[in-house]
Amino acid sequence: MASIGFPVTLLLLGGSCWLSLGSAAGPVPLVIWHGMGDSCCNPESIGYIKKIVEEKIPGIYILSLMIGKNLIEDVENGFLMNVNDQVKLVCGILAKDPKLQGGFNAMGFSQGGQFLRAVVQRCPSPPMLNLVSVGGQHQGVYGFPRCPGESSRLCDWIRKMLDLGAYTQAVQERLVQAQYWHDPLNEEEYRKNSLFLADVNQERCINQTYKKNLMSLKKFVMVKFLNDTMVDPPASEWFGYYRSGQAKETIPLKETLLYTEDRLGLKEMDKAGKLVYLGAEGDHLHFSKEWFFKNILPFLQ
Ligand SMILES: *[C@@H]1O[C@H](CO)[C@@H](O)[C@H](O)[C@H]1NC(C)=O
Ligand SMILES: *[C@@H]1O[C@H](CO)[C@@H](O)[C@H](O)[C@H]1NC(C)=O
Repeated sequence: MASIGFPVTLLLLGGSCWLSLGSAAGPVPLVIWHGMGDSCCNPESIGYIKKIVEEKIPGIYILSLMIGKNLIEDVENGFLMNVNDQVKLVCGILAKDPKLQGGFNAMGFSQGGQFLRAVVQRCPSPPMLNLVSVGGQHQGVYGFPRCPGESSRLCDWIRKMLDLGAYTQAVQERLVQAQYWHDPLNEEEYRKNSLFLADVNQERCINQTYKKNLMSLKKFVMVKFLNDTMVDPPASEWFGYYRSGQAKETIPLKETLLYTEDRLGLKEMDKAGKLVYLGAEGDHLHFSKEWFFKNILPFLQ
């Protein structure tokens, strides 16, 4: 299982100097949600990120979410545990953590990005301040062209399940990736049957609570990997997607009904300067320490 991780490639390009100003109450805490195939505490990915943030922001409290009782469960749940249940579990963890009650920033890697967005939409307390989505797929995916560990049996199994029928109840209930599977040739089925993504993206109805809660963010930062070969389509990382009815041409968020009808408050957030689009050169989750400090760290202060 460990081999299917999304290790963060860090090219150590030398240090950059960052002065953390903090506040009287100490630095704003940070909550991290790892990606598919990864865990809370892998020393080569999230563990490493945690360490370098702690070095730059002395005294910061960082909670890297573990979904389950141990690391193995944490990795498995990233494939098998109903996403709505995962979000509920996380809401419970955050509500009980005394260090987070004054508010926190959140950073999600890959699918952890869209899962944390569900957390802010569904659970306004304690308040999330900034949400940083690093390669999250906010309009879902229509393929895993290079599912990590190409020959891994798990990736083959995922593909088989999705082929069998991503929108059948049996697959929806068993496979996390089916719950954010977005078939542009079959929007109707997606809208009706997607257990997770169609709900948080207001595809079935407009839940005003989701809208209000999302708009309470100070900043919603979306990082897209400009050379991403693992997410189909990479446009989803900036909340864009395939134009309905085909799977070649993508449209940006601004051209989607979600935005023009402002079903989720994104248009209003955009007008208020709350949406931040960052592009990172490189493949999925590949970035340098220097890039991270320069582009991401300011949102974690
Ligand atoms: C809207 O979202 C809130 C927060 O998750 C939930 O409590 C409520 O039941 C939802 N309303 C509808 C109509 O789905
Ligand atoms: C990444 O993609 C950009 C354009 O999207 C291209 O200009 C650049 O050369 C690519 N970089 C790598 C390392 O492939």
